Amino acid sequence: MRAVDLIRKKRDSGEHTRPEIDFLIASFTRGEIPDYQMAAWLMAAWLRGLNRAELTFLTEAMLHSGEILDHSAIPGKKVDKHSTGGVGDKTSLILAPIVAAGGLTVPMISGRGLGHTGGTLDKLEAIPGFNTALTLKEFRHVLSACGMGLIGQTAEIAPADKKIYALRDATSTVESIGLICASIMSKKLAEGIDVLVLDVKTGSGAFMKSKKDAVALAQTMVGIGQSVGKKVVALITDMNQPLGRVAGHSNEIVECVEVLSGGGPADLRELSIELSAWMFFYGQKTASLASGRRLAAEIIASGKAKAKFRQAIELQGGDPRVVEEPRRLPQALSRVEVPSPRGGYITATNCENLGIALAILGGGRERKEDRIDHGVGLEFHARIGERVKKGQPLATIHYNSDAKLAEAREMISESYEISGAPPKVKNPLIYQTILKDKARDAPSPRRRRTR
Ligand code: URA
Repeated sequence: MRAVDLIRKKRDSGEHTRPEIDFLIASFTRGEIPDYQMAAWLMAAWLRGLNRAELTFLTEAMLHSGEILDHSAIPGKKVDKHSTGGVGDKTSLILAPIVAAGGLTVPMISGRGLGHTGGTLDKLEAIPGFNTALTLKEFRHVLSACGMGLIGQTAEIAPADKKIYALRDATSTVESIGLICASIMSKKLAEGIDVLVLDVKTGSGAFMKSKKDAVALAQTMVGIGQSVGKKVVALITDMNQPLGRVAGHSNEIVECVEVLSGGGPADLRELSIELSAWMFFYGQKTASLASGRRLAAEIIASGKAKAKFRQAIELQGGDPRVVEEPRRLPQALSRVEVPSPRGGYITATNCENLGIALAILGGGRERKEDRIDHGVGLEFHARIGERVKKGQPLATIHYNSDAKLAEAREMISESYEISGAPPKVKNPLIYQTILKDKARDAPSPRRRRTR
């Protein structure tokens, strides 16, 4: 078998067999297929799509590129959450301490920033000393000691996703139902969890811009997870504007601590509690979702969630003093406001461009080897539906270099749609909950081609 033939087959809309996908993934993981051939195949798969059978083969091949962890020595349920990504989406760093403080184990394997979205690992690395590259032995020790651990893929855990993820980020091949599903489910199924809660974003700052695509992605992931015996639920949530009031790595850590301390923005707090509630409910810690919500709120109010975050930081080599003293996080040297070009109501934001503006300031990667500037960030002052005056700040940029400042500033200014009347509809924070894959019994999976 040759990679070039598989690229041609997908380019010409062919359907791959399991041995073909196994060959592609195993050879690429071993370094026998170069990046340029994998990048070409990814683009062909992005353009032509993968049917349900192909994406099951892909998920399984990526899952088996490494080990499947066994945490059976740790008592109780192992639960996790994964988001498809957005701007200012930082709920992992809030719900992991809440859920661990509530007595469940959260063995979280996360990703880096992808496209215009931020990544949990990059955010954690804003904390001086925080080690996201623990060995599996160290990971198990941290999990047993405090009930949560946050690491990236290693040579042992879904290494194929680690390599493919970095390539997709740099080749504009992210927004694909098949590729996102295989990426998320391969690393999540490798974690050795019983329960997975998925946060599938939709809107201008999500990979799935339409709700229909978000639902299709959610159903596919729920179906794949349930077919291997996991308890999986997906929430379709809004990403038409940033989640919370800030984006950027240090900034986001600070906002997470605010929520863990009982404050923070309402949308971020509500979503973090809802996702935690599902983890408690499906992890059999509470008898209902409502009692899961109450438990999450109580754990925050008691200070236990914040203390758990501090403990987790310390156990992973980070400086826990950032929790009380956020100035210990990398800070940008300068700040500048982005004024509203006119008065009126904010009716929409181009949330993807807000994420891109952050990336071009140094808060994201253009090439896979780029280093993140953890200090740069954005503060968002105006939300959809709010009224602004001409000249009133829409956002504040925290920056370290003038090089791309003008470009970012213009991009942010143009990302806000301002009209004379308020928006007619208000987007809910949570649109829908997907409990099962309704399309699973469709007559022929081969007819379900997803891009
Ligand atoms: N998150 C992932 O882990 N993978 C994707 O492809 C998109 C979001």
